[in-house]
Formats: sequence, structure tokens, C-alpha cells
Amino acid sequence: MSFLIQPSPPARLNRCQLFGPGSRPAIFEKMATSAADVINLDLEDSVAPDDKETARRNVICAIGDIDWGNKHLSVRINGLDTPFWYRDVVELLENASERLDQIMIPKVGNAADVYAVDALVSAIEAARGRSRRISLEVIIESAAGIAHVEEIAAASPRLQAMSLGAADFAASMGMQTTGIGGTQENYYMLHEGQKYWGDPWHWAQTAIVAACRTHGVLPVDGPFGDFSDDEGFIAQARRSATLGMVGKWAIHPKQIALANEVFTPSAEQVAEAREILAAMEQARKDGAGATVYKGRLVDIASIRQAEVIVKQAEMIDG
Ligand code: COA
Ligand code: MG
Repeated sequence: MSFLIQPSPPARLNRCQLFGPGSRPAIFEKMATSAADVINLDLEDSVAPDDKETARRNVICAIGDIDWGNKHLSVRINGLDTPFWYRDVVELLENASERLDQIMIPKVGNAADVYAVDALVSAIEAARGRSRRISLEVIIESAAGIAHVEEIAAASPRLQAMSLGAADFAASMGMQTTGIGGTQENYYMLHEGQKYWGDPWHWAQTAIVAACRTHGVLPVDGPFGDFSDDEGFIAQARRSATLGMVGKWAIHPKQIALANEVFTPSAEQVAEAREILAAMEQARKDGAGATVYKGRLVDIASIRQAEVIVKQAEMIDG
């Protein structure tokens, strides 16, 4: 390890973040009783400009009135380039009950965007004597966001999670697609007349994972727009999980179970991780730093890999 110790991210589950428009209070109860770990009530792009104030009022009432169980409850505010965001923060912090856990900042472009919200939140918390400290999460969904991803990950001790927002990201980057995440038909290599599809989101995801892991933030995969395509969702989610992301958004309730399944290590994965730890414990007793497990090398690095899976399983069980 470097002398710089990698901080642990918040010890909470974030396998699925379920979104719902703040202007559609009829679905709030359904969101609360869903199997998602995180709830995102939206004031931003799923709410029409004329509905912003009503949505804000709906959300503030719902935070206090609905039993959200043990879910991590987050509200997505409007972007810092809009006239709405400051009132979102002020009204939420002044009027919503202390049940509110988190504020999500969309379209973050640099560390100063997070700093601005942190400063406003801090002032209102102090003025109102709020005892529970609000955490923050951000969406990387612009060229500036990905260019400044590391300073954003380091921007505030309140920051708990960072998501990739594929649709706005694609627009900001000038990508030739209207799809929200997943396979892009024109992103392929050609070999002997055969097409091999690549993953155009891969580099942004790995940049986000590296920035998050460096600064103890949870990396999350954002929306998959085509909610009739379960296979496509699962494929995207599996790639994200393989790269180190901890969860994915659901923009329709049918995506919740899919995300939970992908981001919950399987019984076989957990059993194998425990066997690797046992094999390495035996190796340690024998004075060896490496050994053979199922015909392949395992060494001290394998302990850390296996521990990622075992710790995840323990958090889910606990
Ligand atoms: N959370 C919880 N329940 C939801 C839901 C959500 N986000 N979206 C729909 N439902 C409910 C519906 O009320 C319906 O319930 P019912 O069976 O009791 O009547 C059921 O799930 C099936 O809904 P369906 O008819 O398939 O969808 P819809 O046409 O009502 O809504 C969307 C589809 C995409 C408009 C809606 O899911 C939605 O607004 N998603 C979130 C969008 C969002 O927040 N975007 C911002 C982040 S990208
Ligand atoms: Mg967006």
C-alpha cells in the first residue's frame, strides 16, 4: 500500500437507487415499500418547470409523512445553473423532517459546485439546529464532470456517493446516441467482417470508480432507460459490478430486483471467497505467501479481493 491509506466508503447498502418524480406523489408509498436500498425523490429533470414548486412541497411533506423504513432517503435538487436549486436546498433543510438523509447534486462540473451546496447546507443546519447531518451525492454527467472527477470526489466530507448519468453525459460529450446507457449499435470493432461491440461507458465508469475509491465514496451506475430490456439492464449492471461499482439506479420498479440480484454477491461467489481466505490462512500457517486454489494462484492480494466479497455479503446479511 502507498503511505496514503485508501479510506473505506460509507458502510451502507447502495445496490439499487429507485427514482421517482417529485411531481408524482401517488408513487411515493410504492417507492417506500419497494426493495430498493436508496430512494431518490426527484426535483430535477423528471419534473416540468411549472411543477417545480408543487414537487418541492410534495417531497417535503412525504419525507415526514411516509414511513421510509431503513431506506437511505435522498432528494435530487436542480442543477446549479438553474434558478431553482438554492430554494430546493433552503426549503428542504428548513422544512423537511430530519428523516432526510441525503441531497443529490446533478450535473456537477467541479469541486466548487459541491462546495457551494455544502456551504449552504452547513449554514442552514446550524441556523435551524438540525441534529442530523445531511450527506451529499453527485452525478457525473458532463464533460466537465468527468474531467474534474477526482477533485469532485474529494470535495466534501459529506460526499457519500457518485453516479454516472449516461444521458446527460452523452449529450454533453456530443456522443451520437439517444440511448440511456447500454450497448450502442455503432460502437464496434470489425475483425474479419465480424462486429465486436465495445462499451463506450467503460472509461467514464473506471474513472469514477478510481476517483471514488481514492476518496472513500461509493461509485454507482446510473440509469438504464429501456426498462423493457431486462437482459440489457443486467448486462450493463454486471459490467458495472465487475468494474467495482456498488449499485445501479432503477427508473422503473421492474429494474429493482434486477439491480439487487446483480449487486448481491451470489452464494457461490461468497463460498468461493471464504474458501480462498481459508486456503490463504492455511498458507500463512505453513509459512507461505502464495498457494494453489482450484488450480490457480492465490496470494496475499487474493485475500483483499476475497474480503471485498465477504464484507459485502456480511453487510447484506447484517
Ligand atoms: N417508483 C415506484 N413505483 C412506480 C414507479 C416508480 N418510479 N414508476 C411507476 N410505478 C408504479 C406505477 O404506479 C404502477 O403501479 P400500479 O401497478 O400500482 O398501478 C406500476 O409501477 C407500473 O407502472 P407503469 O405503468 O409500468 O409505469 P408508468 O407509465 O406509470 O411510469 C415512468 C413509467 C418511467 C414514467 C415512471 O416509472 C417514472 O417516472 N420513473 C422515474 C423517472 C425519474 O425519476 N427519472 C429521473 C431519473 S433518470
Ligand atoms: Mg441528468
